[in-house]
Amino acid sequence: MPDNPNQPTPRSLSGLPIDGLYSPDQLAASGFDPAADLGEPGQFPFTRGAYPNMYRGRLWTRRQIAGFGTAAATNERYRFLLDHGQTGLSTDFDHPTLTGYDSDHELAEGEVGRLGVAIDSAADMDELFDGIPLEQASVSLTINHPAIVLLGMFLSVAEKRGTPWPALRGTVQNDSLKEFHGQKTFALPPGPALKLTTDVVEFCTRHVPNWYTISISGYHTREAGSDAVQELAFTIAQGMAYVESAMKRGLPVDSFAPRLSHFFGVHNDFFEEIAKFRAARRMWARIMRDRYGATRSESMRMRFHTQTLGSTLVRQDPLNNILRGGLQALAAVLGGTQSLHVSGYDEAYDIPSEEAMRISLATQMILANESGVSATPDPLGGSAYLETLTTQLEEAAHAYIARIDDMGNGSMLDGMLEAVSNGYIESEIAQASYRYQQRVETGDYTIVGVNDEYRDDAASSGSLELFEFDQGEEDRQIARLTQVRRSRSEADAAQAIRRIVKTARDDANLLPAIIPAVAAGVTEGEIMGALRDEWGEYVDPGVF
Ligand code: 3HC
Ligand code: 5AD
Repeated sequence: MPDNPNQPTPRSLSGLPIDGLYSPDQLAASGFDPAADLGEPGQFPFTRGAYPNMYRGRLWTRRQIAGFGTAAATNERYRFLLDHGQTGLSTDFDHPTLTGYDSDHELAEGEVGRLGVAIDSAADMDELFDGIPLEQASVSLTINHPAIVLLGMFLSVAEKRGTPWPALRGTVQNDSLKEFHGQKTFALPPGPALKLTTDVVEFCTRHVPNWYTISISGYHTREAGSDAVQELAFTIAQGMAYVESAMKRGLPVDSFAPRLSHFFGVHNDFFEEIAKFRAARRMWARIMRDRYGATRSESMRMRFHTQTLGSTLVRQDPLNNILRGGLQALAAVLGGTQSLHVSGYDEAYDIPSEEAMRISLATQMILANESGVSATPDPLGGSAYLETLTTQLEEAAHAYIARIDDMGNGSMLDGMLEAVSNGYIESEIAQASYRYQQRVETGDYTIVGVNDEYRDDAASSGSLELFEFDQGEEDRQIARLTQVRRSRSEADAAQAIRRIVKTARDDANLLPAIIPAVAAGVTEGEIMGALRDEWGEYVDPGVF
């Protein structure tokens, strides 16, 4: 029978054409070289995985996000997650914290603790990890332009608890560039933001050697509407800019590259997503070795966290989101992720309830224990279809990277700063987002229960027990903050801020000035405010 003319021509979600059949002969004839393109798991170019035996050695980390209200409320959620199968921690901060304002700032009103935890001071950070031994926990802090301040608080808490910094294992997102086209919680202009990112890399390389200094993120780019190719390309391009920035500081590439980490979203197109992860590892390995002269295998080995994309989850028939999350998580595992968050099935309504997170953890444990997919590394490796897609994604992503490289005349650092400020990245994402929405609205891409004939408007959140925000949290947090300010020495605080300003003017690394400041009770908003006064605020050019 010929292909059904009433069905759309199969294309991947990023628009790659899909053939009627893929065969090993065709793959061999395409120039695919198993030794150079595939290799062994745990070895260059890492297409088949970061480690030789992958999940046989250690399962991926189950790392569901937590963050709402005060530090105490989030600490309680951590404990709930740990009691239900969580093996790593991940913290989301509220909007004021993400953008560098204290909870009592007028811009913070109504947002304190609403979509993440409110952290103003080192005392809050201490309470966040109350009862959690820092040297045993693998912690992720999702913070970007103020990353240096929040990491400073974390390091200060460790110091106070007597935990040596080399014993700390964790990740700070610290991916300043993607804020301009992805998440948009920026606090500073691109140049100063990149300086702070690089300060963190430099300081940790010397003093916190097991810390992942940047989680180079594609997740937010994808959430902003990019397709898989753009997610891959812009994430790798950001990473290249960070590598160049650190090398420009005089750090040898092999000193810091092993502690760069990545973060991707995972969408619905099962094979394209698996191919994306495999292509990402191969591209990073080749770029690190061939362009930046890395010699240590660990510098070329990409390790990454994955989150199933919240934007794929819908309000209609919300229980169906459990299956969507399960399939996306399966793609992430088949793609070799090191760490995973499965978004809650109630995602389209609010931040997740306890019940939604319990099911997300169970989803991960069913995959790990019941499905058999973790039994052997890269079980789909060698599939003609998957290998073809992997190569196609790599090539398409390289075309974007070459374009950005040209904008910087061969410097990705300059190219990325240019592509951010001239709106190139944002406009490419906007076009992909428009293409996707067109496919949904014309019915070329079906989302079950949303744009098909089986839409059931009666099936809604009726039976869901959604997260309930405690409206008293904002007042409690402001009272805590007032107490911190009252109990500190104002003279010490003022002196610590003056030191920060001087260090910024001298263009020296800011972490050595920030750590004693937060220990003296200086708040995040005060530090970021001082830096904003020095460097100015970023005004979004509003590209679309
Ligand atoms: N063989 C040998 N060793 C192995 C192994 C194997 N098969 N598997 C694992 N290991 C070892 C590793 O080498 C590592 O040891 P090392 O540190 O000495 O090298 C150890 O076991 C732990 O394994 P991983 O490092 O692979 O796993 P982690 O979970 O510790 O780290 C990561 C994963 C991706 C590298 C890290 O950066 C991370 O945890 N990232 C999480 C980021 C995150 O949670 N982000 C969420 C952001 S949410 C967001 O932005 C959305 C929004 O809020 C808007
Ligand atoms: N708690 C849990 N998950 C969160 N996310 C964002 N904030 C929180 C939070 N406070 C997740 C959601 C969202 C994505 C950007 O990150 O899945 O879609």
